[in-house]
Amino acid sequence: MALLDDIDEILIPEEVLQARIRELGRTIGTDYNGKEPLLVAILTGAVLFVSDLIRQISIACQLDFMATSSYGAKTESSGIVRILKDLDQSIEGRHVIIVDDIIDTGLTMDYLLETLKARYPASLKVCALLDKVPRRLRHVPIDYRGFEIPDKFVVGYGLDYGGRYRNLPFICVLKPEIYGQEPGADDAPAVRHFTHGRPARMVR
Ligand code: IMP
Ligand code: MG
Repeated sequence: MALLDDIDEILIPEEVLQARIRELGRTIGTDYNGKEPLLVAILTGAVLFVSDLIRQISIACQLDFMATSSYGAKTESSGIVRILKDLDQSIEGRHVIIVDDIIDTGLTMDYLLETLKARYPASLKVCALLDKVPRRLRHVPIDYRGFEIPDKFVVGYGLDYGGRYRNLPFICVLKPEIYGQEPGADDAPAVRHFTHGRPARMVR
């Protein structure tokens, strides 16, 4: 099945994405010179981003993962976040950079910041590839931002719709009719509510 047939519009082409990630990596390398930051990537969406980003950082750094999910909510903006996988290590005294694919409402990152702050890191910063500003419900300080995007549901480069499309090497919007369908019965979320033709709850 050709994924490309489902695409309406490419928002950020591969070369533009990679060029910006190179810049972000260089900036992080400069800012953390003399330190050894711990990148905390949020599964699953940030996997492609962090794997490219970390290769553009030329200082010593470490990598760990967390997985979160919105908690049994009827809408996407419940603000209740569940940790499905926690870090493998203590972050006390560490310079932590949370790396995520997209900040949408900001509820997930707001919760993560509160949770990780309570573990006494030496510093805590946020690196997000995409920033969907118009949707923000919580203020989130984004220290390293890839791109601001409009209020559109995007997929590709780690971001999914019903578990699909993560392997596209660019950021794009799907054809409107695709958003109304069940994308892969196996990995589709158990409950999905639609508002204004966009999924209101999705697999993280
Ligand atoms: P927030 O808590 O609303 O900021 O949601 C953040 C998470 O929702 C992201 O890490 C993504 O996993 C998911 N998400 C938000 N917007 C999109 C989108 O446009 N496409 C795919 N996933 C999204
Ligand atoms: Mg996510």
